[in-house]
Amino acid sequence: MTFKDPASYTDLTQGRIKHIDFRIGVNFATRILDIEATYQLQEPVRGSLYLDSFKIDLKKAHSDGRELEWEFDARDEVLGERLHLKGLENASTFTLNFQTSSEARALQWLTASQTAGGVYPFLFSQCQAIHARSVFPCQDTPSVRFTYSAEVEVPQGLVAAMAAEQVEVQAGSGQTFFKFRMPQPIPSYLFALAVGNLAFRELGPRTGVYAEPETVEAAAWEFAENETKIVEAEKLLGPYLWGRYDLVILPPSFPYGGMENPRLTFLTPTAIIGTRAYTALITHELAHAWTGNLVTNATWQDFWLNEGWTTYAEVRITEVLEGKEVTDLHAVYDEKRLLEVMERMGMDSPYTCLKLPNEKDADQFTTIIPYYKGCYFLQECEYAIGRERFDAFVQKYMARFQFQSLTTEAFLDFLKAELPEVFEKVNVQRWIYEPGLPDERRRPTSRLYEEVKRVLADYQRGIKPTREQLQNWHRYQILSFLQGLPRKLSLEDCQYFEDILELEKRNDVAFFYYFYLIAIASGYQSILPDLERFMEKIGRMLYVLPIVRLMAETEWTRGVIRPLFERVRNRHHQITVNQMEEILKKAGL
Ligand code: BES
Ligand code: ZN
Repeated sequence: MTFKDPASYTDLTQGRIKHIDFRIGVNFATRILDIEATYQLQEPVRGSLYLDSFKIDLKKAHSDGRELEWEFDARDEVLGERLHLKGLENASTFTLNFQTSSEARALQWLTASQTAGGVYPFLFSQCQAIHARSVFPCQDTPSVRFTYSAEVEVPQGLVAAMAAEQVEVQAGSGQTFFKFRMPQPIPSYLFALAVGNLAFRELGPRTGVYAEPETVEAAAWEFAENETKIVEAEKLLGPYLWGRYDLVILPPSFPYGGMENPRLTFLTPTAIIGTRAYTALITHELAHAWTGNLVTNATWQDFWLNEGWTTYAEVRITEVLEGKEVTDLHAVYDEKRLLEVMERMGMDSPYTCLKLPNEKDADQFTTIIPYYKGCYFLQECEYAIGRERFDAFVQKYMARFQFQSLTTEAFLDFLKAELPEVFEKVNVQRWIYEPGLPDERRRPTSRLYEEVKRVLADYQRGIKPTREQLQNWHRYQILSFLQGLPRKLSLEDCQYFEDILELEKRNDVAFFYYFYLIAIASGYQSILPDLERFMEKIGRMLYVLPIVRLMAETEWTRGVIRPLFERVRNRHHQITVNQMEEILKKAGL
């Protein structure tokens, strides 16, 4: 393989990790994980072994009864410290004893007051893209896969859930041991652990949901259709090879909507809106079980192989489950979001290419561009040869590369071998390696969106929609309407929309998001207390970061945002905090 992952110190010529046995102690008082990890390699080590690590406190290293020496290189703020394990030549196994830092980037430790129940603390990990190295030293690149087992010790009363198969629960005195195994090989970014006061509800034969007792019933209702989703996904993508598919509902500071950890999607509680109108999010995370988890991008430069393919699959499955009218509506709404982001970055920015620039900071270049541009590219391929043949290709792709990682170039080779006509009809080079969007592509259209467009045009002429009009709309019609409104409204109209949107009753973060953007831009200052409560609680970066960006750019909020950030920063995940800090610094705050 002739590629280098710029986000990792891994040197594949030294050997590959094949399996890890973990013993993990969870200490909420010190906010530290105490870990013993025994590594097995694919083949005996050649020369030294370099591992990625971030603020790991290594206590002891040994191999076959011999103590090992080690050295950490100087810290790179993004990559962390390269760990150089010595004297491993020809060894196939070694054990490390270490502690994570209280500043481990992958981990968020929450106080009881940040949970739904308010009595027990909570811990969750988020390793994608390059944060697994802050939990355990590893070859933290998606091109290396390993299996693992884990024994997790947590204080009595708490439950540990991992993105793995639970094999045993054992009560100790004052603590409980949860044992897991992950028999399918995974890349490091799919290692995942959550600990809290978690209850469990079955949804179907292969599906269930973990959540705090306070939210578990609502979650079980909202996601009752998960079993049906798997059945549909299997028709498109082939058999589900991971055993179970469960969800764990995290506290609202979770930085993403969802994270496709294998067997156990990690989910924002803001996905529970009481109407099941937002479960395309689950469809997306579920589709990753194939596109991403089974067939994985080799580096973060090839991120579109994960997200573009997953978005394509999400749209196909949603079309079956919710109908074409609804997917068309989503498509128009998402295209506008994509164009907005592309225009902000610049249509000629290298970050708008599907193959991303060779940079190390994956968190900085992950936007929604690979999702939708990647999806459009695959749709163009489908149009070029017809759905039937493309579907056969999808199945073949999954079967050929299952449990492997591949680069964009390897994918294009496969595409060329299987479907050479695609290259005659679609400008593949332009889609993958050039910025912006090709002119020659099919644009989405939607009847449901046309209705929204009429109401937006009426508003331009001074006619406001009524409460009843909005109430009868589909969720994405209302979101499209909010998306289409001018950012700056009169204070009177802000008040009017706040009233008819019934934000409190709806309790849908996407609605708050749009309304807050309008309120900030319009100088609707009475929103501030709500906005502050929102920033204190919600960590989903998709919504929070644009709000921070706009507050930093807007005169009346510019002075508010830095002190507000300082007040809420310790309630958020490190990943979110780093991104917010970056925005404020860029704005000179
Ligand atoms: N894998 C992503 C989340 C992610 C991306 C984590 C990059 C770390 C780095 C996940 O599948 C995802 O895309 N989540 C989206 C929701 C989706 C419906 C677009 C999100 O969190 O907004
Ligand atoms: Zn995704």
